Amino acid sequence: MDLIKSIRDSIRAIPDYPKPGITFRDISPLLQSKDAFKSTIEAFAQRYQELGIDQIAAVEARGFIFGAALAQRLGCGLTLLRKPGKLPGPVVKETYALEYGEDALEIQECAFKEPQRVLLMDDLLATGGTVAAAAKLLSRTQAELLEAAFVITLDDLPGEQKLQDLGISCYTLCR
Ligand code: PRP
Ligand code: ADE
Repeated sequence: MDLIKSIRDSIRAIPDYPKPGITFRDISPLLQSKDAFKSTIEAFAQRYQELGIDQIAAVEARGFIFGAALAQRLGCGLTLLRKPGKLPGPVVKETYALEYGEDALEIQECAFKEPQRVLLMDDLLATGGTVAAAAKLLSRTQAELLEAAFVITLDDLPGEQKLQDLGISCYTLCR
């Protein structure tokens, strides 16, 4: 599909960043191109506009960019899953391993106090640790997680399999 090819072509591969052996997928050119950015949001909208999504739960930081734009396009709300110490409490926290380190995510305890149809959004799926932690946070609320959506999935890492094993449906634009 040409739309997807233009999105993929706008993502830059940076060898050995941030550590030797890691190929970093840089979304900066995608965001700088009004056409590629718009195509990305339109591609997600085509999949999700009829699904009655109430909220997008977006992962800090790069997930916020796509989550916020798609929430506006779908006319739904945005819930922030943030790195530690950024959300006024009380919060629930999950720590996870990254392809290049360790981190944690928090959600406010007051989020999803009633059932809502939720799409989880991040820019990239690598080991799956981030989104597994995000899904665990959502499972402590009344969110109904419909799917996790990504611009990029790294096929040489086990993230997609990990999420499938956890029963989380995944959708990605580029591999
Ligand atoms: C990146 C990316 C995903 C995560 C994917 O985030 O935006 O959230 O790694 O990796 P995983 O599937 O192995 O968990 P990062 O924590 O580097 O931060 P940023 O979005 O704040 O740049
Ligand atoms: N997050 C985790 N792995 C990544 C990669 N290879 N490129 C960009 N972001 C990432």
